[in-house]
Amino acid sequence: MIVIEPYHADHLPGVQRLVNRHLSAVVPGWTLPAAYIEQNLHRNPHQPIIDPWVAERQTLVAVEQQRVIAAAHLLRYGTGEGVGVDYRGAGDVAWLLAWNEHLNEALALLEAVHEQMRWWNAPRIFAWDSHLPAPLMIGIPDVWPHLHQVFTQAGYEPLPERSEALYGGWLRDIPAPVSSPVDGLVFKRTVRSLWGVGFTAWMDDQPLGFCECVTDLTEGGALPTLRGWAELGEIFIQETWRGRGIGTWLVQHAAAWLRLAGCDRIVLSCAADDEAAGAGRFYRRLGWDVFTRFQDGWAWRPPTP
Ligand SMILES: CC(C)(COP(=O)(O)OP(=O)(O)OC[C@H]1O[C@@H](n2cnc3c(N)ncnc32)[C@H](O)[C@@H]1OP(=O)(O)O)[C@@H](O)C(=O)NCCC(=O)NCCS
Repeated sequence: MIVIEPYHADHLPGVQRLVNRHLSAVVPGWTLPAAYIEQNLHRNPHQPIIDPWVAERQTLVAVEQQRVIAAAHLLRYGTGEGVGVDYRGAGDVAWLLAWNEHLNEALALLEAVHEQMRWWNAPRIFAWDSHLPAPLMIGIPDVWPHLHQVFTQAGYEPLPERSEALYGGWLRDIPAPVSSPVDGLVFKRTVRSLWGVGFTAWMDDQPLGFCECVTDLTEGGALPTLRGWAELGEIFIQETWRGRGIGTWLVQHAAAWLRLAGCDRIVLSCAADDEAAGAGRFYRRLGWDVFTRFQDGWAWRPPTP
């Protein structure tokens, strides 16, 4: 017999187990501390644009004999002028996790979620727009097939063109940069507001390409199991300069810097169209591989009566 009830502090160890088992199936060894999960039920700093639009939050859990078998975190966005038009009043199932042998219970939890959304008068409902509070968690990854099944069965449809691949691997095997691959190329490192450190290749006064990295994914120590991991946030080479080794050279510079920062592994997210256009081949040549693929952005299409 399962009971669906609002989250309270006694549920935290069970919710943490759910979150961490799911997370560490996406990136090896990643886990979130209990206090961090609890804090993020009240705000999500990974969503600096949409999180301030949230007007109400609710976490529901499905419990069987004191064991948390599924949990969902829901948001209702405000209706004010400052809220993005598509979000005004909308409900978001920010995340829902369940043990894979409890699909019926996960579906029952999703029904309770819809009941709460009706209570909130949400004119439309989407899912996974806000996500789990961890870097690069952007939807339902294919290593959680049971959740694909739950959302599909409950009437959610993935939005087209919102698929991303999560690549990762070692930095130790990337050779140190030697001479520049093109005569006259100069490398510069600068601070960047979004990702942290930028590496740019210049020719005369023109930037031919850049990459940007995050050297600390622990958020200043709050996430200790992410120590040693870096993120490649962006890489872009001007179209006419591609295929001449500039991207590889920039990654070599970045990797040397990241190793000095104590990072020996890297993760990055790559949109499906960039991956197909050649970025996937570029990353594989560097020795990195796909950890999983995410389907981001799910919209609820309630059955028509
Ligand atoms: C992916 C990218 C950064 C590679 O930079 P680059 O300087 O062209 O790469 P290099 O010359 O160092 O390496 C060449 C390898 O990159 C891959 N590659 C990807 N796109 C390429 C392109 N348009 N031209 C040539 N090589 C390309 C190939 O694997 C190639 O080696 P191969 O042909 O022997 O297999 C660059 O093509 C780019 O800016 N693409 C658009 C932006 C993008 O997709 N960024 C990644 C987002 S996740």
